[in-house]
Amino acid sequence: MAARCWRWWHWSAWPRTRPPPAGSTPSSRRQLSTQEQTPQICVVGSGPAGFYTAQHLLKHHAQARVDIYEKQLVPFGLVRFGVAPDHPEVKNVTHTFTQTALSDRCAFYGNVVVGRDVTVPELRGAYHAVVLSYGAEDHRALEIPGEELPGVFSARAFVGWYNGLPENRELAPDLSCDTAVILGQGNVALDVARILLTPPEQLEKTDITEASLEILRQSRVKTVWIVGRRGPLQVAFTIKELREMIQLPGTRPILDPADFLGLQDRMKETPRPRKRLTELLLRTATEKPEGEEAARRAVASRAWGLRFFRSPQQVLPSPDRQRVAGIRLAVTRLEGVGETAWAVPTGDTEDLPCGLVLSSVGYKSRPIDPSVPFDPKLGVIPNTEGRVVDVPGLYCSGWVKRGPTGVIATTMTDSFLTSQTLLQDLKAGLLPGGPRPGYAAIKALLSSRGVQPISFSDWEKLDAKEVSRGQGTGKPREKLLDPQEMLRLLGR
Ligand SMILES: Cc1cc2nc3c(=O)[nH]c(=O)nc-3n(C[C@H](O)[C@H](O)[C@H](O)COP(=O)(O)OP(=O)(O)OC[C@H]3O[C@@H](n4cnc5c(N)ncnc54)[C@H](O)[C@@H]3O)c2cc1C
Ligand SMILES: NC(=O)c1ccc[n+]([C@@H]2O[C@H](COP(=O)([O-])OP(=O)(O)OC[C@H]3O[C@@H](n4cnc5c(N)ncnc54)[C@H](OP(=O)(O)O)[C@@H]3O)[C@@H](O)[C@H]2O)c1
Repeated sequence: MAARCWRWWHWSAWPRTRPPPAGSTPSSRRQLSTQEQTPQICVVGSGPAGFYTAQHLLKHHAQARVDIYEKQLVPFGLVRFGVAPDHPEVKNVTHTFTQTALSDRCAFYGNVVVGRDVTVPELRGAYHAVVLSYGAEDHRALEIPGEELPGVFSARAFVGWYNGLPENRELAPDLSCDTAVILGQGNVALDVARILLTPPEQLEKTDITEASLEILRQSRVKTVWIVGRRGPLQVAFTIKELREMIQLPGTRPILDPADFLGLQDRMKETPRPRKRLTELLLRTATEKPEGEEAARRAVASRAWGLRFFRSPQQVLPSPDRQRVAGIRLAVTRLEGVGETAWAVPTGDTEDLPCGLVLSSVGYKSRPIDPSVPFDPKLGVIPNTEGRVVDVPGLYCSGWVKRGPTGVIATTMTDSFLTSQTLLQDLKAGLLPGGPRPGYAAIKALLSSRGVQPISFSDWEKLDAKEVSRGQGTGKPREKLLDPQEMLRLLGR
């Protein structure tokens, strides 16, 4: 690599508008063809968006080289740190991602925080194109008084804790209370409720961390309220996840039939998936269970309930103000109809006592680098079909492109589209010409800054270690939680 002849390319030398420069010289056209032969592309983030973008680029361009930079020591983003441990089948996508990483035209560099260890302009100098696929790492704040009290956590942190995200490994939530409240009615809220209520012995064969399992074993939480500011027709969770809750061993659902009055008529105009979901909610709320199901619910020691038309107003402190004791909810009513109806406060409030509040009102992307446009309101990088607005050669995919919603399949489609856009631009000669150094230049920068990247084969060693640690207890893996320990294991 070092012997390869390359020179730095300067953005200032490249026009900011498309199409490519009129009157481009034959020599610049020659440069374009070089770059078309071996485009050096870099992807920031190794979650589904990063890996699916890389996969598509490698498949549809026979010479393209793709380097994936990741801030964690380990790959796979929310597939490892988000997807619930009791959904192992979802994690099978990592096999496909591994095939991509093992391509001889792809490289993985973990332990590199883009925006801190290396800047986006530096990456743009080293590659023909850069794709930002760094997801949504923050949580949306409630912005209500008391949010900072002990006993209030973001669902993001809680999920990170049970899934072994290094920054959340010390969270150790106090589960000695009787009642927990989850704010928000999306699939993350249901994941969190399910993990809180699942009999711990059922989690023992999953990849949940042993430390969190130990705390869950001691949990005294008996009731979990999942609170939404709108109504049953506007819940954000999906039917499969609701069904799982309804069937959760040792638990029974609490739904107020009054919340469902008149819903049968309004349901007629709703699209089919929403209709089926609402029908299941309605049946659960209004039909008396019989037979085995009635017996199961009668002996259930734990319960979960959906509370509708309640918007969080204030977290209430205990008398000594040392921790959470409840939540004040503003009672709401809906204006408008269907999925786009919005909640307005009626002026009434309701206090719900609880010892744990988990705020599950969505994730949020952060800006990565001052040179990259960012829309703070929408929390996305402004883009057209994945092209970052006004920055040629820069692209985005996944949650940072379209906001923090959508399952892995949605992220796949979206990432393929970004890759297609990039390849079209490449073909049209819209990317900078001339050879690019790729990782050779970044390696030198990282080394001068004391950063030690983790390769995919390093990850395979850590992976093997995790799998062997899990074997003794029948778990698919026991995750390594401490980056220092991981580095030690790799002999660093
Ligand atoms: C709790 C939870 C559970 C979910 N469960 C499911 C499920 O069961 N099924 C399903 O289909 N979908 C599920 N999803 C949705 C799915 O996880 C997302 O659609 C998908 O992960 C989004 O992919 P992404 O690559 O955009 O983001 P991410 O998966 O977040 O990947 C982004 C990557 O970028 C890295 N990164 C961030 N900043 C930097 C930086 N500065 N430098 C370098 N790297 C950086 C991150 O570490 C991360 O690895 C779930 C989501 C959540 C939050
Ligand atoms: N099993 C799975 O497939 C799975 C598991 C987890 C996550 N995911 C996916 O990951 C994505 C993210 O999930 P998510 O649950 O974080 O987000 P989400 O689906 O957007 O749900 C967010 C919830 O928070 C509520 N909310 C937002 N702001 C609020 C506020 N200020 N006050 C009160 N409530 C507020 C929303 O209500 P409004 O509708 O009223 O705004 C909604 O109920 C989703 O696409 C989800 O399907 C999938």
